[in-house]
Amino acid sequence: MTYRPSDDRYSNMIYRRCGRSGLKLPVVSLGLWHNFGGDTPHDLKRAMCQRAFDLGITHFDLANNYGPPAGSAEEAFGQILATDFQGYRDELIISSKAGYDMWPGPYGEWGSRKYLIASCDASLKRMGLDYVDIFYSHRFDPETPLEETMGALDQIVRSGRALYVGISSYNTERTRQAVAILNDLGTPCVIHQPSYNMLNRWVERDGLKDTLAELGVGSIAFTPLAQGILTKKYLNGVPADSRASQGKSLSQSMLTEKALASVKALHEIAERRGQTLAQMALAWVLRDGGITTALIGASKVSQIEDCAGVIDNMEFTADELALIDQYATEEDINLWARSSEEV
Ligand SMILES: NC(=O)c1ccc[n+]([C@@H]2O[C@H](COP(=O)([O-])OP(=O)(O)OC[C@H]3O[C@@H](n4cnc5c(N)ncnc54)[C@H](OP(=O)(O)O)[C@@H]3O)[C@@H](O)[C@H]2O)c1
Repeated sequence: MTYRPSDDRYSNMIYRRCGRSGLKLPVVSLGLWHNFGGDTPHDLKRAMCQRAFDLGITHFDLANNYGPPAGSAEEAFGQILATDFQGYRDELIISSKAGYDMWPGPYGEWGSRKYLIASCDASLKRMGLDYVDIFYSHRFDPETPLEETMGALDQIVRSGRALYVGISSYNTERTRQAVAILNDLGTPCVIHQPSYNMLNRWVERDGLKDTLAELGVGSIAFTPLAQGILTKKYLNGVPADSRASQGKSLSQSMLTEKALASVKALHEIAERRGQTLAQMALAWVLRDGGITTALIGASKVSQIEDCAGVIDNMEFTADELALIDQYATEEDINLWARSSEEV
């Protein structure tokens, strides 16, 4: 069936400026890490992208390795761009990344110029695009000089493959270095993509959140729902259709009694605020404007609708924040800690 985007797609979303750049992003962005590979029906992927766009979600986040198999999420999104989203390229912000294991041999991962440029070209081909809006270094490479990795990002922009560049899971110290190198090259770092949610607060501890504000770099928080833990779905066991039942990135060992007790308390606070826990978790990440956009994932259209509803209540009282702080305590769920901590 031919898709026609909703005429009022821009009337119910909030857009925030990404750092000191000219780019504005919706406060909710959609990531295609899970549920966009060969294991998900194409019609469901289409339905999720269509509904997101109808709700004003203009930003779709990909990476070379999203699938399974790696690359298939970009291929699927490329098909959607060629069909449903045909004619709407100028209304979309599409990002991709390279850094993790993509192909065999010494040039298939990390941060060399050789890998980043080849991977960017492969991503563009899979999506049928001339350029992506944002291209990221997906993780810091402890062995490649940062000048080389940032130089490759600069080359990617200068050659027309991307409009903006970003970095993901770099800690504060490396972020400062990367931002300085990119500034010198004349290709500013527009965005940082760290993990951040009520049960994983490393960006506060590490000082990254404040540093990004100081440097004028925007931010997109990934796993704002802690892969689904910050919803009510695990309060009465593990549903068969949930991520924790799939044996992928969300291990059931992360659903500890302590974590679930916090989730239950947070759920009750959200109910008192008249919103779902997912909505409160997103509003919390977005509080005080320190984070530009919350990067969600979804397995159902209804989840995207629920998350987009965050805009109805994004304010917190000081009492609410203090109460949330009692339960928003660190759990051992940050799968990306090594990337930001590795020396
Ligand atoms: N830069 C990096 O290294 C990196 C790493 C990881 C992710 N990311 C990016 O961040 C994106 C989001 O990651 P994520 O999928 O882990 O984020 P998330 O939003 O924390 O978790 C998404 C999961 O939460 C559940 N969910 C979402 N909305 C819900 C709602 N309203 N009610 C109930 N459950 C809901 C769904 O779980 P079920 O599947 O159980 O239904 C969904 O798959 C990725 O797609 C990717 O673009 C980047």
